[in-house]
Amino acid sequence: MELIRRVHLMREISQEARGKGRKIALAPTMGALHDGHLSLVRRARELGDIVVVSIFVNPTQFGPEEDYARYPRDLGRDADLCIQEGVDYVFAPEPQDMYPDGFGTYVDVLELSAVLEGATRPGHFRGVCTVVLKLFNIVRPHFAVFGQKDAQQAVILKRMARDLNLDVELIVGVTVRNEDGLALSSRNAFLSPEERRAATKLFRALEEGRRLIESAGETRGPVVEATVRKALAGSKSLRVDYVAVVDSDKLAPVEQISGSTLIALAAWVGETRLIDNVTATPAAAAVGRSGPDLS
Ligand code: PAF
Repeated sequence: MELIRRVHLMREISQEARGKGRKIALAPTMGALHDGHLSLVRRARELGDIVVVSIFVNPTQFGPEEDYARYPRDLGRDADLCIQEGVDYVFAPEPQDMYPDGFGTYVDVLELSAVLEGATRPGHFRGVCTVVLKLFNIVRPHFAVFGQKDAQQAVILKRMARDLNLDVELIVGVTVRNEDGLALSSRNAFLSPEERRAATKLFRALEEGRRLIESAGETRGPVVEATVRKALAGSKSLRVDYVAVVDSDKLAPVEQISGSTLIALAAWVGETRLIDNVTATPAAAAVGRSGPDLS
């Protein structure tokens, strides 16, 4: 494994690899790697001849009041984990190299970036899209692997890739969870033991929403949303930011559920803001999709 700290060196390596016909797979991260990231790295390992993990806490996707300064950073540990996973290159540039003086070009995916996370975190997806496009231009991957935990991010990046004719295939890896259901997140490290217990409500509430749609035949989006909200109530260290029942691709609120639906939420657990989501498909639509059982 080689640690690359400079943009121009990473570009040279990618150019040479491409010249030799090697397939490059990129797992973009902000470091503080956990098993969720490592599952994306393993997916990248399956897809590419050369695996690059980028580790960059991207300042442009954090708002002024957000946790950029305290975001966990441990490059030594992350690099060790990448060695164990057979990663070829860790690309960990300095902010000044990614955003030199006078930097003034940003990518905005309209509409999709204005809802859910975007409504609470204005400018967040602009920062994400800009840095991901830069990473694509520097690493020049054939495949890039993102996590389903950031479902909206994955939808937006796919739209960016389509709209800008990017020559990269985006892969979305499943959310990895603790035994009690809490989705792995670098921010879980901020939780006190009591908050950690309260945080398990997030997945339980989402599962209740999914069960309503998939097993109880509920088709009214607002009813599912109200049920998830109710399941989140009653804990003093947990404050809901949003619960949304939206179309999985368009991210538009769904009144009448008929196809693949994303139940997404964000909540403050103490001082830490966590997000999570599940996808639910009504039984009728799931059968329709896989075709009739002719056995
Ligand atoms: O998902 C993340 O960790 C970040 O948003 C990403 C894609 C690495 C861009 O900074």
